[in-house]
Amino acid sequence: MKVLFAASEAVPFIKTGGLADVIGSLPKELIGQGLDVRVILPKYGGITAKYRDAMTTAVKHNIYVGWRKQYIGIEVLQQDGVTFYFVDNEYYFNRSGIYGYGDEAERFGFFCKGVIETLPLLDFQPDVIHCHDWQTGMIPVLLKAHYQHLPFYSEIKTISTVHNLKYQGVFSQSLFKELFGLSDDHFTGTALELHGGASFLKGGLLYSDRITTVSQTYAEEIQTPYYGEHLDSLLRHRKDQLTGIVNGIDYEVFDPMSDPHLVVNYRDSLPKKLQNKTALQERLGLAVKADVPMVALVTRLVQQKGLDLIQHVLTEILSLDIQLVVLGTGEYGYEEMFKHAAQKYPDKVSAQICFDEALAHQIYAASDMFLMPSQFEPCGIGQLIALRYRSAPIVRETGGLKDTVQPYNEFTGEGTGFTFRDYNAHDMLHTIRRAVFFYKNDRDAWLKIQQNMKKGDFSWKKSAQQYIGLYKEMVK
Ligand code: GLC
Repeated sequence: MKVLFAASEAVPFIKTGGLADVIGSLPKELIGQGLDVRVILPKYGGITAKYRDAMTTAVKHNIYVGWRKQYIGIEVLQQDGVTFYFVDNEYYFNRSGIYGYGDEAERFGFFCKGVIETLPLLDFQPDVIHCHDWQTGMIPVLLKAHYQHLPFYSEIKTISTVHNLKYQGVFSQSLFKELFGLSDDHFTGTALELHGGASFLKGGLLYSDRITTVSQTYAEEIQTPYYGEHLDSLLRHRKDQLTGIVNGIDYEVFDPMSDPHLVVNYRDSLPKKLQNKTALQERLGLAVKADVPMVALVTRLVQQKGLDLIQHVLTEILSLDIQLVVLGTGEYGYEEMFKHAAQKYPDKVSAQICFDEALAHQIYAASDMFLMPSQFEPCGIGQLIALRYRSAPIVRETGGLKDTVQPYNEFTGEGTGFTFRDYNAHDMLHTIRRAVFFYKNDRDAWLKIQQNMKKGDFSWKKSAQQYIGLYKEMVK
């Protein structure tokens, strides 16, 4: 079975969000389970020289984007046993950052077309092209419209994975017509039309053979208007081809037993975990206290992640006997809010407004609780890492958070964290208080939660098996 992953980001090369973690780790597991999986990405200017210098050129040719003829090179790099292809065109991709340019449709349109047209030259004929998010949504559309009558392409199946339905790649219909040469029937409400324009994502959802999203609960949620982002009726219509498969994490990268960033490695030892907490308290200038619960927030500081709930009750949260450690960047107002709190309470709040992978690992290891009150969360990766590092997640019951964190029940002793259902600041506050209560007053309960966390398996193993099952159904 040959599978090509097409995506716009992947660790360790380039990352803005959880998508990059998935693309950087799932292929490894699929290969481990016997598939030939390769990955294709744009070659961005932001990819460091270390990787750029190691790439070799496999093919060079030209493709048409609308009426313009554009150079396209494919560079190859082996990384952890995975073949990565990089689509090279200096004009489109040698810029700082990945997204947010005015010619986004053209850049990713070029990428989609380039992926399709380069495959014969690479001599790689995948059984399945696995597309991720809106940036690759035109691959299934263009394949069906322009290529599948050709023998090379006729058997290729496509699958689109939604990592976040909110980002839809909507641009004007005239631009689509100019770039892709699609007939008018592609622009009706039952085709690419969305919000008066046309959408890459909608194209992917309509024209791929299968759709997946990154948790079962999100797969159900997006069929409702609240989470559906105006695509819920389409998704209801295709519900028989829609599957939720929860993400895993790379168990080698995220392993407290061998993590090189930690002061002390550990697995189940709370005293060793505590040494990491002490070290971090010292490093961040917090009060060095063992018995004050450390609550971590490692996230992009944006509304989706529930930052407005935190803002609403931050004073109340900080009136508890806790420490709050924040790592991330995002909206200016939220950055300022945490900086201000850290100035006001230097020994109990630390605001690290940056992105720092090593520090992130140290925070997972040091913290007792991990806060993630998302408004919606297709899967979420932070809570999975937190579970592996034995930091009890405090989450809202939505999407992947609901599927991966089991609420603690003091009567049955079950549960790996603390959860609340409604998107409500005081419900969140109450849930934080509850977690703090057990931490401080019921050591047995806390130990039980620790033991329950041990039993979970959030590696890619099972989910990769599910993807393989889907691929097999598609190509049989
Ligand atoms: C997006 C989603 C997040 C998910 C990630 C990887 O970033 O917001 O929930 O974990 O994609 O699938």
